[in-house]
Amino acid sequence: MKIGIDKIGFYSPGYFLDMADLATARNADVNKYTIGLGQDRMAMPPITQDTITMAANAAVGILSEEDLEAIDLVILGTESGTDQSKAGATAIHHLLGINPYARAIEMKQACYAATAGIQLAKGHIALNPTKKALIIASDISKYGLNSGGEPTQGAGAVAILIAANPRIMSLDNDAAYFTDDILDFWRPNYSDYAFVDGQYSNEQYQRFFEATFNRYMEDTGRTLDDFNALTFHIPYTKLGLKSLRMVADIDTRPDLFENFNHATYYNRTVGNIYTGSLYLSLISLLEKGSLAAGSRIGLFSYGSGAVGEFFSGVLEDGYKDHLVSDHQTMIDARKRLSIHAYEAMYNVSLIKDGSHQILDTTHETSPFYLKEIKHHKRVYNK
Ligand code: CAA
Repeated sequence: MKIGIDKIGFYSPGYFLDMADLATARNADVNKYTIGLGQDRMAMPPITQDTITMAANAAVGILSEEDLEAIDLVILGTESGTDQSKAGATAIHHLLGINPYARAIEMKQACYAATAGIQLAKGHIALNPTKKALIIASDISKYGLNSGGEPTQGAGAVAILIAANPRIMSLDNDAAYFTDDILDFWRPNYSDYAFVDGQYSNEQYQRFFEATFNRYMEDTGRTLDDFNALTFHIPYTKLGLKSLRMVADIDTRPDLFENFNHATYYNRTVGNIYTGSLYLSLISLLEKGSLAAGSRIGLFSYGSGAVGEFFSGVLEDGYKDHLVSDHQTMIDARKRLSIHAYEAMYNVSLIKDGSHQILDTTHETSPFYLKEIKHHKRVYNK
């Protein structure tokens, strides 16, 4: 039985900062951001969008009434969740109106968690083939104003429906994974912003890619010739490109580099969305590329701390007919922030003392958003 991605869609908030404006404000050469890092813009969330609302906004665009009845597993992968105890997936489950006979959990392993969710879902569907699993990766990436990581921020969510006989991509039963206890990027409970050892994190990312890619090839007997595209976790697009160059040569496999360009289309303009970045790259490739049905795609997932995984999938007949059609419209509709507006939005925070905070939601056009905080509880519109 084939199991894999039946539906996939993303959401990103309605504001962005252009790298040219950030470069001017930080006295940096814009080419460092656009060429050196390979990023053009980054999404910026208003205070009314959090991990839960972005996740629900991503999922609402792909789910039918039939899906809401068939889903019995909801997994939120995030490293910027809203609660230490209650899983964000329970609120998402409610906002979307999924039937109550479902498991809802939140998973954490930095940017890797959604991949773990997908693999768990695959096993779940193998045992329960008439059911469906909703996996959502949702994150806000923040390193602080004037920080080294500032040009690699972003915000957004990707929702993935895992089912038997998938219409977009079936997942191979092959995966290679690797864990090592390192501190390349982490966020202690007391900190709003991640700490990162930037160059060390780049090195570790590539070490984990090499380890999992080689292991996968050894285990499966496949070679690069068996792949039509390689996709990567994309903290910034240049790191994916450098990793592709580790295993492929542009002269012998120009198609892999062309597909890599397609596969970074939305990442260049949305920025790093942590858990969802690999899957935003996959959406970019499926929408903007022209891969034939039957093409095999390699996926490298990396979560600092760290866990890496290389796995693969094969595109199904007619997959293009089942993609979400209005992602580009959503991106085109975003509003450009001045550097002052960006910094002001950055510095807005929710109250923490239990008093009643009613948020200004007049700017909101998304289906789901945060309305108020009352008695330490987040109140969403539905
Ligand atoms: N024109 C063109 N290119 C330029 C340039 C210019 N004027 N100036 C610099 N560059 C190039 C540099 O040569 C470099 O390219 P190469 O790596 O190919 O040599 C690139 O721009 C970046 O320059 P630096 O390395 O000097 O940049 P930096 O040290 O200021 O910051 C960073 C880079 C470490 C990635 C930083 O942005 C950061 O800390 N980001 C957050 C951490 C991160 O994304 N890590 C990735 C791996 S961890 C992970 O994947 C998990 C996750 O999601 C966070």
